[in-house]
Amino acid sequence: QSLLPPGYTLRALRSNDYERGFLKVLEVLTEVGNHTKQEFDDHTITITEDAKDQVVAVGTILVERKFVHKNGLVGHIEDIAVNNNQQGKKLGLRIIQALKFIGAKRGCYKVILDCSEKNVPFYQKCGFTQKEVEMAWYV
Ligand code: ACO
Repeated sequence: QSLLPPGYTLRALRSNDYERGFLKVLEVLTEVGNHTKQEFDDHTITITEDAKDQVVAVGTILVERKFVHKNGLVGHIEDIAVNNNQQGKKLGLRIIQALKFIGAKRGCYKVILDCSEKNVPFYQKCGFTQKEVEMAWYV
């Protein structure tokens, strides 16, 4: 049984929803441009230890095209990891710098990430500042 009021349907977004007031709804949130297409894309980078031909550090930036902010791009940094025995060599910093560069080159107006309290000093050293609060829901 539907949890919606009678006469409502929940479904995936369709391309012709733009003519159905989709962008109008988003105007309650913030400024919306008149662009239409939403895209998702990602870039994963690694650092390898050449002598051993082993990957030792990794990171990903997911580039999200927003409906708001005139279809602006936001970079989401995800899954940063440096091998335990390789930490403290600035590899993490280099990964982040590279991902920030990719984000800027792709035209992102901001790059964001979630992290633990423990990692706040690391990300501050990488040029990030604390904003907002992370919320999570686990299935
Ligand atoms: N507390 C305080 N300072 C720190 C910390 C910390 N926990 N970690 C790094 N720093 C400082 C370093 O001292 C260095 O400072 P300096 O420039 O003054 O010398 C600077 O941050 C850069 O450090 P790096 O050497 O580049 O850090 P490292 O290569 O060890 O990578 C990382 C840091 C990625 C957090 C690594 O420790 C790691 O992989 N940890 C486990 C996995 C993890 O927590 N990943 C991040 C998850 S969040 C996310 O993915 C978005």
